[in-house]
Amino acid sequence: MFDKKIKRIGIMTSGGDSPGMNAATRSIVRKAIFEGLEVRGILRGYEGLINDEIIEMNSRSVSNILSRGGTILKTARSKEFMTKDGQKKAVDVIKKNKLDAIVINGGNGSLQGAITLEKDWRVKTLGLPGTIDNDLGHTDYTIGSHTSVDTVLDAVDKIRDTVSSMERVYIIEVMGRKEPYIAVMAGLAGGAEEILVPGMELDIEQISSDIVSAKKKGKRSWIIIVSEGFSSAQLLAKRIENKTEYEVRSITLGHVQRGGAPNAPDRILASRMGAYAVDALLGGHSGKMVGIKGDKLHLVSYEKACFDRMKDKELNKELYALTKLLAS
Ligand code: F6P
Repeated sequence: MFDKKIKRIGIMTSGGDSPGMNAATRSIVRKAIFEGLEVRGILRGYEGLINDEIIEMNSRSVSNILSRGGTILKTARSKEFMTKDGQKKAVDVIKKNKLDAIVINGGNGSLQGAITLEKDWRVKTLGLPGTIDNDLGHTDYTIGSHTSVDTVLDAVDKIRDTVSSMERVYIIEVMGRKEPYIAVMAGLAGGAEEILVPGMELDIEQISSDIVSAKKKGKRSWIIIVSEGFSSAQLLAKRIENKTEYEVRSITLGHVQRGGAPNAPDRILASRMGAYAVDALLGGHSGKMVGIKGDKLHLVSYEKACFDRMKDKELNKELYALTKLLAS
């Protein structure tokens, strides 16, 4: 499929939805139509591709979706696509619908699926980093990561009101898989007293004695943000309560972090990346993800995007240290 001129593209969103996916879909559809291409929407990610859930799209299909959370294309995590049989079905559907290339908007797992399409089945694809986790390499941000931090921050601020009124300790568990991004950013912005993220050692004695001495010095509230990849909030709350004898409450913020209207940075990022992906395909690129470094969009191979991420985005120790210092 590599040598064909692109006339018709497919778009899919895949994996966990993220705020801004719709803004990206709108941008891809309208830019592609502007460039004279036909557009097909693939519903439910790789699952819908296998099941031939393909719809025609035009400029009106994406009216009034810029500000909407979730994804109008729906999304799924497909087990079947992990099998050769599933992949063969997907490729047959691509041929049947005459899709010359596919824009895949999703996180790490979804872009690894794109590697398979590209390398094993020679399907042209272009990737967008659609995930709240910000766990892709060679991009400062992923689509949805800004909004998710805002959502967590809103919760932290509200929880702070009650925690300081009741002089409690509070543990807030946030998403992000093994990535510290959401925890560190929301922690700094929300003035968290402690942030616990994957890669750190859990030192209950130290945490508990920090709380006790801070309380003695007159500190009224103590918020710990814990990344889901580190520990569960409930578990941590019990252990700290046992050690300190203070009242410790906890919350797992869960999927609230994925919902809601995308904020301005995510709408702008998604709109820019969507149009850039269409240009990249028309310019002959394939097998790459759109990333942003500074304010500049660029293309990066899927392999680098998916597997360089830990190197590229180590826990930002400076921000972590600043958060601790400012919360003292
Ligand atoms: O990848 C996005 C994400 O929200 C992660 O932060 C989280 O661990 C996971 O998806 C939850 O997946 P699901 O929605 O399938 O429960």
